[in-house]
Amino acid sequence: MPKITVDGQTIEAKDRQMILQACVDAGKTLPHYCYHPGLSIVASCRICLVEVEGIPKLVPSCQTPVREGMVVHSTSPKAVANQKQVMEYLLVNHPLDCPVCDQAGECSLQDYSYQYGRSQSRFEEDKHKKPKKDIGEHVMLYNDRCIMCTRCVRFTREISGASELMVEGRGHKEEIDIFPGKPLDNKLSLNVVDLCPVGALLDKDFLFKQRVWMLKRTASISPIDAGGENIYLEHNEGLIYRIKPRFNADVNQWWISDDTRHSYKAVTDERRLRGAMKLQYGAQAETTFATALQTAVDGLKQAVKEGGVGSLYAMLSPMMACEEAYLLGKMIRSLDPQAALVLGPVPSSGADEVFKNSMSGKQTFVIKAEKVPNAAGVRRVMQMLGGTTAEFAELVSVERAELKKLKAGWIVGGYLSNWLAKDAKDRPAVWAKGFKVVQDTLSNDLTGKADVLLPGAMWAEKDGTWENHAGKLQAFTTAVLCPEGTKREGDVYLTLLNRREKYEARSIRKEMGETFADVRIPEENRTEPAFEFAEL
Ligand code: SF4
Ligand code: FES
Repeated sequence: MPKITVDGQTIEAKDRQMILQACVDAGKTLPHYCYHPGLSIVASCRICLVEVEGIPKLVPSCQTPVREGMVVHSTSPKAVANQKQVMEYLLVNHPLDCPVCDQAGECSLQDYSYQYGRSQSRFEEDKHKKPKKDIGEHVMLYNDRCIMCTRCVRFTREISGASELMVEGRGHKEEIDIFPGKPLDNKLSLNVVDLCPVGALLDKDFLFKQRVWMLKRTASISPIDAGGENIYLEHNEGLIYRIKPRFNADVNQWWISDDTRHSYKAVTDERRLRGAMKLQYGAQAETTFATALQTAVDGLKQAVKEGGVGSLYAMLSPMMACEEAYLLGKMIRSLDPQAALVLGPVPSSGADEVFKNSMSGKQTFVIKAEKVPNAAGVRRVMQMLGGTTAEFAELVSVERAELKKLKAGWIVGGYLSNWLAKDAKDRPAVWAKGFKVVQDTLSNDLTGKADVLLPGAMWAEKDGTWENHAGKLQAFTTAVLCPEGTKREGDVYLTLLNRREKYEARSIRKEMGETFADVRIPEENRTEPAFEFAEL
């Protein structure tokens, strides 16, 4: 492990590591634009140049490997003069439209200008203006803000592999563009917005909606598939405005899919259920949550009275947190000790979508085909609770003797899109005739036919743990409150278990045994200001 000295500070680096990355790992910031740890190194922006003792000229810290005993200066007169020159050059044609730029507050050009730039411009000529371009379904390009770091171009070649972006022209006419007739439309396209250190590439969905310094961020997990991408939910006054990637070396690195980014829209979907209902004289009528719960328990008890033990089932949704699945299992078995636990439908889109580096062919990212976040976790909980357990297909086919006895049940949905099979023959027969309590978030066919309907909470409104396809248990926490008229599933189960505490995933995990007790909420899983200077 070579030791180097940077501005008088001793830093322990990894073998063959670049000076800049060694500094970042040690918590020391050096200015940089074109460097990104997930992309190839081009050393083109030149703002990271440092003085190394024994080398006569400045060297790019992003591209110079450490050597034992190396002495580096980033604040020497020579290095500072370079930083000022680079900043002055980058700002020559920059429109300086920070007041109307979405990136303001999280812009490296703005921040470095303040820290490393000159306070006055010496440029008196007309600025070279470049047009705005609509380059894809989700992304706008404001070309005159671009500093030609080429991070976006490298991303489309090295990570998404679609190579839609290129550098066109030379000199001051150089600009980022797409190839004619080939828009930026791969499923990872919005990562270029995160990579762009200035406000040149912007997310159309977030455009002009919020100033970033108003946002708070809460660490969470993607609800869209079994990949378990680590994300930040960024919100203000109870509304989520955008989703950003959260670095996790083992899961998603720096990237997330566009579908993950847009998943927050389900939280305010117009189909959101808001108010308990119960069936009365053949039609659903509004009721209080307390009455709905009492009706639910009475109906389920009645079914056990008539059919004996083994008459009840609970359909556990793969959208549920493991802690909720555990509490629902306990609750249904408190009414019927032989109740069956059934895993709800696990939708899939065929095969995994694999992204590869267009030059090396190396796999860089995978979007999982399984379109729910926690089928593995719910299966784990069902196994833990034991007794009769089944997959959804078995509930539909009713070939097993234990499943033939079922009369009434508790069905949990919570899916982000319509999850019900269109054809009645692909739905369990017990739904058509038996008493059913439905707990869901978006209205659908089944919620309209429930004997008791209990509106639930979305993942952004509660705590819990999900297990991804690789068996990794990851915790998420509450970002926003659930809407009026809804109740978090965990609170409902605790009430029915006659437990007075409020649902808190952490305390439920402790009673679920070692595997779950060890799940830790990531250190950064707290609500904090969204904009962060020079985050890598
Ligand atoms: S658009 Fe942004 S990421 Fe792409 S080259 Fe310009 S500044 Fe860099
Ligand atoms: S970050 Fe080193 S040259 Fe751009």
